[in-house]
Amino acid sequence: MKRLPEEEKPFPIDLQPESRFWEKRGVSRRDFIKFCTAMTAALSLPAAMIPRVAEALGSDDRPSVIWLEFQSCTGDTEALLRSSAPTVAEIILDVLSIDYAETIMAAAGVLAEETRAKTVKERGGKYIVVVEGSIPTRDNGAHCCIGGRSALDIARELCGNALATIAVGTCASYGGLPAAAPNPSGAVGVGEAVPGITLINLPGCPVNTDNLVATIVHFLTFGRLPETDGKGRPLFAYGKKIHDNCERRPHFDAGQYVEAWGDQGHRKGHCLYKMGCKGPATFHNCPVQKYNEKTAWPVGSGHGCVGCSEPSFWDSMSPFYRRLPAVPGFGIEATADKIGLGLVATAAAGFGIHGALNALRKDKEPEDSTREG
Ligand code: SF4
Ligand code: F3S
Repeated sequence: MKRLPEEEKPFPIDLQPESRFWEKRGVSRRDFIKFCTAMTAALSLPAAMIPRVAEALGSDDRPSVIWLEFQSCTGDTEALLRSSAPTVAEIILDVLSIDYAETIMAAAGVLAEETRAKTVKERGGKYIVVVEGSIPTRDNGAHCCIGGRSALDIARELCGNALATIAVGTCASYGGLPAAAPNPSGAVGVGEAVPGITLINLPGCPVNTDNLVATIVHFLTFGRLPETDGKGRPLFAYGKKIHDNCERRPHFDAGQYVEAWGDQGHRKGHCLYKMGCKGPATFHNCPVQKYNEKTAWPVGSGHGCVGCSEPSFWDSMSPFYRRLPAVPGFGIEATADKIGLGLVATAAAGFGIHGALNALRKDKEPEDSTREG
């Protein structure tokens, strides 16, 4: 008997017509099932969970979303707007009701502020806050103000009362570019600015919208945020290194490297490690999830990963075109003198190698050290 693809199999639950919100938005049942299947897979859930995901998405009881933008380049809003239109993902966010997103909403000024205040009051804490951009803390938060209030003040009020807060992009997660040395505004991520809240970090420059939607779907389905790693990132999206899933990995293992931009190796798609790729020390699902309707991602497009989903990557992963030291499988000896302290520390944090730590230690110790042992 011919096996049907997953999305063509009969749907195991029969949602009531009034719950089939996708139909009202002109999305076919097939596309909706495909979406539920993709989300379930993205969250690394078993296929048996598809009906539960679909049921949660069909529910009328949805929290509002308030999208706050602080110190950022608006890249995450851009990423959201660039998701292929019209997608089921957009519909999910639409149905979720993004009640306040000042960058894209029609209302402005006092009217926009009133909308936000009304949402907070009427929803009585039944809302999710999405934060884009870092929060400046120096000078009492004066470096980023909206409607006469500091970002710090707004974040404390809104995130402090929300069901959950989702920090999108590296700036909101860890401070990002505004926090790069010398960090003139005292920029930090949401978690540092407002400790103790229910928070998840989705770092990246920009956030991958698929990961954002999957996180919201998880919250709607299970009533809680997905499991995270030590840096507050969901394991379903940040549980593996770029290097572990990279399409150029066979070239790394075979010792085939790009030696100069545009050389034969570059044209043949060889490994970008020698050109500074930080994939061996970066956790993100870019090789699998990709960007731009799953068509492209940095390494696939011929540029090394710069480690944009890691905290402090502007400082710890630069120089971007200098190779990481002592990556397992490459077999090189490197010292902090040759490579740079930041990169050695990054490598040590990424794969915990003796060589990298020794290099760091050696650099810090005086030559005539009299330490015992
Ligand atoms: Fe891919 Fe970079 Fe690893 Fe090479 S070093 S396999 S390009 S992640
Ligand atoms: Fe960023 Fe590296 Fe992915 S630069 S987008 S984590 S491939």
